[in-house]
Amino acid sequence: MSINFKELANKYQTPYYVYDFDHITKQYEELKGAFRARKSLIAYAVKANSNLSVIKHLADLGAGADCVSIGEVKRALKVGIAPYKIIFSGVGKIDDEIREALNLDILMINVESDAELNRVETIARELGKVARISIRVNPNIDPQTHPYISTGLHENKFGVDIDTAKRMYIQCKNSENLEPVGMHCHIGSQLTQLQPIKESVKIVADLVRNLKAIKIELSFMDIGGGLGIVYDNETLIDTKEYAQSVLDNMFGLDITIICEPGRFMVGNAGTFVTKVLYEKVNGNKRFVIVDGAMNDLIRPSLYNAYHRIEVLNDNQEFSDCNLVGPICESGDFFAKNVQLPKTQHNDLVAIYSAGAYGFTMASNYNTRGRVAEIAVENGIDRLIRKRETFEDIIALEEEFIK
Ligand code: LLP
Repeated sequence: MSINFKELANKYQTPYYVYDFDHITKQYEELKGAFRARKSLIAYAVKANSNLSVIKHLADLGAGADCVSIGEVKRALKVGIAPYKIIFSGVGKIDDEIREALNLDILMINVESDAELNRVETIARELGKVARISIRVNPNIDPQTHPYISTGLHENKFGVDIDTAKRMYIQCKNSENLEPVGMHCHIGSQLTQLQPIKESVKIVADLVRNLKAIKIELSFMDIGGGLGIVYDNETLIDTKEYAQSVLDNMFGLDITIICEPGRFMVGNAGTFVTKVLYEKVNGNKRFVIVDGAMNDLIRPSLYNAYHRIEVLNDNQEFSDCNLVGPICESGDFFAKNVQLPKTQHNDLVAIYSAGAYGFTMASNYNTRGRVAEIAVENGIDRLIRKRETFEDIIALEEEFIK
């Protein structure tokens, strides 16, 4: 379905994010369907796009939530995701977060170090509770993606090696306050190769079977997220092959498969729409300056990420330029050396594949309010987050002025 960006710009001003909720539905159903041969839970990685209406849409489809802060857990609960579908992950959980997660009785806490396991045990004991645990195993596999979003090598800070994991499961089994229920593994994001996933799933599935042999029986195998999407011309992992390669490794196990996709669910559903303010030429370099900036969508600046860009005018006169925002940094760009048509004041520019890690990574840098978010579903648009005003931005400081 095509979205009328101009109409939305007239109605909501620019810049804005717009999300095609029908695309999100399609993505969810495709992945859920791929796992239909087994019990499965699609636990949406809330960090990719944590707008309450986005999470609610996925919740209504049956999704659970993979959360990395207690704030994300509360977002998931707020829109009606049942506690038994919520996982709490992350390398650095704070005591209060662990306490709250235990009190909220979520499905499991995904533990990433033995020091953390000890903290969870202590806190569970204090509360007189039994903490359901999964352990994040780092399989030491190179996921062949951008180094900033690769997590499954020992040189990354995530998870524990197999021997440590085994020890930790034994500690869980022997503890009155810990119950080992799951195993977790996530090797990176924007994955376009199936092979590294296959290898890592094999490693963790073998470990689950080894544990079973010593009477530690897990109920959940969480294979992480990471499925890539199209930004440019990537060849994607086929979801059926993905699911099959996971299922093939589960022989001998009665286990529910969990996966935690973020980008796959929402990435291609989102477009960031901004408008042209000015064009200028410095020396012989052409710049197109728009009203959106790196504070709204930081992926190009931070990862040199590619997003397809389209200027919504009829001009056929293309030339090389940098598409930049108004922020006082040379790193404030959406694209460098791209061919774009000659523009005029107020022409709209669509920046595609911006639904994941777009708005959630936005900031108020340069005292710029975060932009509006819009959902389109069945051809009908609705606002799902208001544009921030100056008053919103200063609200938590104002009372302290001396
Ligand atoms: N599970 C865990 C444990 C994760 O660390 C992540 C992402 C996911 C699931 C979801 O991954 P996805 O399915 O979205 O690939 N800001 C970066 C991406 C950071 C990903 C962090 N972890 C970007 O804009 O590319």
